[in-house]
Amino acid sequence: MSLDTIHARRSIRAYTPDPVSDAQIDTLLRAAMAAPSAGNQQPWRFIVIRDPAKKQAIADIHPHAKMTPEAAVAILICGDPSSGRYPLFWPQDCSAATENLLLAAQATGLGAVWCGIYPNDERVAAFRKLFNLPEAVIPFALVPLGVPGEQKPPADRFNSGFVHFEIW
Ligand SMILES: Cc1cc2nc3c(=O)[nH]c(=O)nc-3n(C[C@H](O)[C@H](O)[C@H](O)COP(=O)(O)O)c2cc1C
Repeated sequence: MSLDTIHARRSIRAYTPDPVSDAQIDTLLRAAMAAPSAGNQQPWRFIVIRDPAKKQAIADIHPHAKMTPEAAVAILICGDPSSGRYPLFWPQDCSAATENLLLAAQATGLGAVWCGIYPNDERVAAFRKLFNLPEAVIPFALVPLGVPGEQKPPADRFNSGFVHFEIW
């Protein structure tokens, strides 16, 4: 993956009806699980969602995930803080996995968007119920993805004012 992939990644919220294969999803999940995590505890878990009824149900419970029914696949990234030695770091760990997944989508010609769930209590409760999650598992983010149905230019957000050297 080149730096171009990082700079070209944008949130893609429109998709063509083209399918996304299991092999493509496998590639994305391998990239997600290649992320760093505190103490290498890997608290991330994933649900791959293709069922149209489930995708519609997601659009009904998440106010900013209305694009989900159009996406070939949605991946629900969950955290299981009970599984490791550094339980407080699970949101950072899941963030790293989510970003890796987005970059892998970009690198393989797919379009995706990060839809936030945690720490919004209402969304957490709704996703917990919809996906029958075990008590210890927390829904973290949803990534709808598919063949891009929209193109966006790279966003140059470099701001030298955000950078300090040696001291604030
Ligand atoms: C934590 C987080 C939550 C987000 N939640 C949503 C969301 O619920 N729905 C959505 O359409 N985009 C969501 N986004 C995408 C942002 O709106 C988007 O990344 C931002 O506007 C920058 O645009 P870009 O991704 O195209 O560079 C989220 C992004 C992050 C990091």
